Amino acid sequence: MATVPVVDLARRAAALEPELSAAIAEVLAAGVFLLGPQTAAFEEEFAAFCGRRHAVAVASGTEALRLALVAMGLGPGDEVIVPAMTAVPTAAAVVAAGAVPVFADVRRDTAGLDPVAAAGAVTDRTRAVIPVHLHGFPADIPDLGVPVLEDAAQAHGALDPAAPSVAAAYSFYPTKNLGGIGDGGAVVTDDDDLAALVRELRNHSRGADYDHPHVTGNSRFSEIEAAALRIGLRRLAADNARRREVAAAYRAAAPDLGWPPDHPRHVYHLCVARVPDRDAWRAARPFETGIHYARALTQQSGYRRYVRAACPEAEAWAAECVSLPCFPEITDDEIEAVCRALQ
Ligand SMILES: Cc1ncc(COP(=O)(O)O)c(C=O)c1O
Repeated sequence: MATVPVVDLARRAAALEPELSAAIAEVLAAGVFLLGPQTAAFEEEFAAFCGRRHAVAVASGTEALRLALVAMGLGPGDEVIVPAMTAVPTAAAVVAAGAVPVFADVRRDTAGLDPVAAAGAVTDRTRAVIPVHLHGFPADIPDLGVPVLEDAAQAHGALDPAAPSVAAAYSFYPTKNLGGIGDGGAVVTDDDDLAALVRELRNHSRGADYDHPHVTGNSRFSEIEAAALRIGLRRLAADNARRREVAAAYRAAAPDLGWPPDHPRHVYHLCVARVPDRDAWRAARPFETGIHYARALTQQSGYRRYVRAACPEAEAWAAECVSLPCFPEITDDEIEAVCRALQ
C-alpha cells in the first residue's frame, strides 16, 4: 500500500464529482462570477448550519478575522488577546486591522487559550479576545469583559451556537473541514449591524451616491467557490462524523499517546497528539505525518515585537505536536494500517 497521506484533496475532488462540474457549469452559464446568487444561497445555508442569523462570505479566513475586527471598531493602539499556539493568520489579521496582538499561553491538555493566562494579559487597552478552536477542538470562551471573536477556521461544526461571542471567523481553505476549490472565508454572527458593515467593507465600502464611507479594499467572494461550498456543506456533518471515527480508531489503538481530552464537539480538522521525542517517532512511522504548528507565535521572527510574556505551554505544544492522517475519504484499510503502526 502507498504511504497513507495526512490529507488528499484529489480524493476529495473525485468524491464531489459529478456535482462539482455541474455546479461550475451552472455558474459559467449564469455569467455572474462574484457575489451573486450562489454566494447569497451559500451564506444563508452556512448561517443556518452554524445556528446564527448571518454569514457574510469574504475572500479568506484571514479577511474574515480582519473585517470582523474592523467592524467591531478595533483600531490603532487597541489590543487583542490571541493564544500563542495558533496559525499565524490569527495574529496577522489583528495587525492588518491596525490593532496589536497580545499573546497569551494555552492549556496544556487542549492547546486552547488558557482563560487564566488570558486574564493575566489584559491591560487597559484590551478591546477584544480571539479564542481559537485549534485542530477542531472547542476552546474555552474566556470572560474578560471584552468582546469575543471566535477563530473557527479549523472548526466548522464544533462551535456552541449559544456561546457569548460577537462573531466567528471561518476559513474555506481547501484542506479545511468545509474546504473550497480556492480561497474563502466567512464572518458568522447574530449581530445585524456587524453583518451589514462586513458586507459593506468586503466590497470597497461602495455605498449610495458613489460614496465610499470607509477605507477598506476588496474581499469579494467567488461564485464558483460558493457553488462548490454548497456541495461540501451538504456533506459536512457526515464528513465530521467520519473524522471522529478515524480519530477514535487511532485513540483506541494508541491510548498512551498524548491525546487531548474527549470532547463531543471536536471535529478533528487535524488529528493531533503530543509525542515527546517527535522527530524519532515520526521517522519510525510508515505513514505521513504533519506538524501544526512547529513554532508558537512567541517563536515567530516576524512577531517578536509583540511578545510580552513567556508562553511555555504553547512552545511545548510546538515541540511535541504531530498530526496523523485524517480526512473523510481515508479508507478503512488505511485506518487499519495506521492503527497497526501506532501499536
Ligand atoms: C486557526 C486559523 N486561523 C486563521 C486562518 C486563516 O485562514 P485563511 O488561510 O483562509 O486566510 C487559518 C488557516 O490558515 C487557521 O488555521
